[in-house]
Amino acid sequence: MSSQTENMPAGKQIVMSGIRPTGYLHLGNYFGAMQNYVKMQEQFECYFMVADLHSLTTHPDTKELRENVKRVFAENIACGLDPDKVAFYCQSHIHETAELYLYLNMMAYKGELEKTTTFKDKVRLQPENVNAGLLTYPVLQTADIILHRAKYVPVGKDQEQHLEMARTFANRFNHRYGDVFPEPVAFNFGGELVKVPSLDGTGKMSKSENQNATIYLSDAEDVIKKKVMKAKTDAGPTEPNAAKPDYIENLFQLMRLVSSPDTLQKFEDDFNTCNIRYGDMKKQLGEDIAAFTAPIREKAAAIQSDEVYLKKVMLQGAEKARISAQKTIELTREAMGLNYFAPTP
Ligand code: TYM
Repeated sequence: MSSQTENMPAGKQIVMSGIRPTGYLHLGNYFGAMQNYVKMQEQFECYFMVADLHSLTTHPDTKELRENVKRVFAENIACGLDPDKVAFYCQSHIHETAELYLYLNMMAYKGELEKTTTFKDKVRLQPENVNAGLLTYPVLQTADIILHRAKYVPVGKDQEQHLEMARTFANRFNHRYGDVFPEPVAFNFGGELVKVPSLDGTGKMSKSENQNATIYLSDAEDVIKKKVMKAKTDAGPTEPNAAKPDYIENLFQLMRLVSSPDTLQKFEDDFNTCNIRYGDMKKQLGEDIAAFTAPIREKAAAIQSDEVYLKKVMLQGAEKARISAQKTIELTREAMGLNYFAPTP
């Protein structure tokens, strides 16, 4: 049995995260995850991937997958992710993931998987396709993470439960077969994990649901402004320093992410003195979001049309990821005692 520290590659701490290519990326993906990928690439050994296998649990038709995968690559690079600094790869290119997923499936119980919130949501949304992949989704996510023996996982708040399960499965493996895997933790530089709300005041921005209340990185300026102007408001507060209703707090939260501190302060003051004009606030917010996403949208479109470059990036990412994956699989098989011709301990 070997110790965790012996098995860790020397040097930087390891980071892993992924995004499903099930649609267009949005402000939630950016502020919950991608922004941190870009910051972390400077200090950590990073593995970021496009989770095409996960997307098959809900989107079995692969017609749109081709473009979606390329767009997720292009948008991440447009946001500042540097494929030379990190391993940026496609999940299905690393076959070791499937092997580790298989081993972990023997340690994941039906009862605990059925209790997962995302599973229960998906059962409600697609009762005609409650497949085994959907049930074991958190096991595959655990395999993605611990395949690189990653410690930090930059994700938004919606992934908290999956990370908790990843810790459970990693610990269960270590307990049963010996310490191979560090305990992965959800990570955000600022502390609290981020949840970017949808514009209609219900839930979060999402790739495939609630599209009129979600701002996509690829939305044109006029589309962004229209969506923001439609956001729910009311007649305004009737007493100074009132508590904000959820749908108003959401607008302020978005403003905190994209607007200047002075702009935010002005509308906070207007709210607290009962002088707020929500029409003006939404106009400003629409402009600030559009100004924020325009350079990303333009860069992403140029990258996405460069197939030669994208192919090179994917191959290079897979090559880097495979080195770490193969090492982990070797350690995993060794710990499990599947190397039958090694000298008996
Ligand atoms: P996915 O594709 O739904 O989302 C990608 C990342 O974006 C974050 N995110 C948000 N953050 C804040 N506010 C929102 N409204 C919002 N919406 C999405 C997510 O938290 C995530 O960080 N299961 C994962 C993909 C995955 C993965 C992994 C993640 C597969 N393997 C291994 C980490 C490690 C998912 O569906 O993310």
